[in-house]
Amino acid sequence: MNAPTAASTPAIELVGIDKRFGPVHANKNINLSVAKGSIHGIIGENGAGKSTLMSILYGFYHADSGQILVDGKEIRITDSQTAIQAGIGMVHQHFMLVENFSVLENVMLGVEGGPLLKRGVAAVRAELGRIEREYGLEVDPDALIEDLPVGKQQRVEILKALYRGAEVLILDEPTGVLTPAEADHLFRMLAQLKAQGKTVILITHKLREIMAITDTVSVMRRGEMVATRKTSETTMAELAELMVGRRVLLRVEKDEAKPGPVILSVENLTVKDARGVTMVDNVSFQVRAGEIVGIAGVAGNGQSELLEAIAGIRKPASGRILLNGEPVERLDPAKLRKKGLAHVPEDRHHMGLVLAFEEYENAILGYQDDPKYLKGPFLDIDAIRKDAVARIEDYDIRPADPRLKTANFSGGNQQKIVLAREIERDPACLLVGQPTRGVDIGAIEFIHKRLVALRDQGKAILLVSVELDEIRSLSDRILVMFAGTIVGEPAPHAGEQEIGLMMAGIGREAAE
Ligand SMILES: Nc1ncnc2c1ncn2[C@@H]1O[C@H](COP(=O)(O)OP(=O)(O)O)[C@@H](O)[C@H]1O
Ligand SMILES: [Mg+2]
Repeated sequence: MNAPTAASTPAIELVGIDKRFGPVHANKNINLSVAKGSIHGIIGENGAGKSTLMSILYGFYHADSGQILVDGKEIRITDSQTAIQAGIGMVHQHFMLVENFSVLENVMLGVEGGPLLKRGVAAVRAELGRIEREYGLEVDPDALIEDLPVGKQQRVEILKALYRGAEVLILDEPTGVLTPAEADHLFRMLAQLKAQGKTVILITHKLREIMAITDTVSVMRRGEMVATRKTSETTMAELAELMVGRRVLLRVEKDEAKPGPVILSVENLTVKDARGVTMVDNVSFQVRAGEIVGIAGVAGNGQSELLEAIAGIRKPASGRILLNGEPVERLDPAKLRKKGLAHVPEDRHHMGLVLAFEEYENAILGYQDDPKYLKGPFLDIDAIRKDAVARIEDYDIRPADPRLKTANFSGGNQQKIVLAREIERDPACLLVGQPTRGVDIGAIEFIHKRLVALRDQGKAILLVSVELDEIRSLSDRILVMFAGTIVGEPAPHAGEQEIGLMMAGIGREAAE
């Protein structure tokens, strides 16, 4: 065992870290102490400053002031090489792997001194094998990166860091891209790393993950470190409140759905992408008035194309789409809107908004010929702005300025601009893709409440989200998509694991 003094020296200490990007004060006098051999979570809403802080620790950014201590010794981390030498490894939100290289090649790539010169490939391979076995990484060293699923690519990133001798491993939002099963595997690996005495810093905005795996959790809000707690001594509710700065409802409160007549009916729909690859394969389902049907699935399994086809953005190769019994598969988005189909696209930058327009212009985009915005043949700018201001208030869109260029709003606020526009149009059917991607907890609560309220008014809602939690808490019925087909309709209260297996293309039978 370590001597008591050594055991109490933190693996990492940040003292008074301060960082500005022009007018943005991203890190305000941050202090953080990470115990050796622990899993330390850092949570905070989007833009709280988590990635900035970790990028400073990893040498991507330089702090304006403050100190970094590793094992009790102050070091100057000037670039990621110094960080690596100090035993700090980072797994990025977006992987930095060479796609057409093998796992082994990626691991060796950029290792200082050139491993090929010092020791042979065989030695690297042997070492890699040892690390893999020790931590249960399960990746084939000769596989090409491009052939590996995302979860395994992430393991290669971890392997790379460990191979470089990382004692402290930083993971920035590692589960965003993973299926629940892959996330479980990752967590088992992290537990293994901890058991071997490594220190893990886990950045996430998912409270569930924090509770499941961390020993200690620090909360950031608007550039400040607002609290640090022992995970066993806190609750999701307390952490959410610390993150947002007020009490938040974590559960979506809703009554049983009272489904009415079928509003949207999709029949044997097949959709191909630009290369002619079938993305949606003979899919059929219905959405009734007063219900939320959620499509669960790992990103890239056809749910985006399905949504786009129904919204009239993508022409189906075959099949039918009926809105209130009327075939609409040949209509364009403008005609569909007139028939009561609203759409909150997944990719709001490219489809939902014109970023160069002012906020109020986007607030009516697609609805500009609504009589209430017209004065004779002209647009009634006063009426439009007044309407925009009302939405801004209702949805707490910040800054509250309808004349601001849309590009200058944060992602979460841009999302609210689109949602407000589509929801408040009183549609019969709402298609909504990734409604809360990049949105803060406080805003998520609001958006979820609005969707449920819309359902309760008798609207038919089709929800596509890669956040399984979101699907499970909002949907009255869940359909799981895998490889372009609907592989199952789990019971409304099915467990995460059962749905997760379906999302991975493994049948329900296997789950039982
Ligand atoms: N390179 C940069 N240039 C300018 N502003 C930045 C840069 N990186 C981050 N920011 C800003 O700093 C703040 C904190 O961002 P970030 O650390 O990425 O937050 P988090 O990871 O908690 O979501 C945000 O307002 C963000 O827009
Ligand atoms: Mg971040």
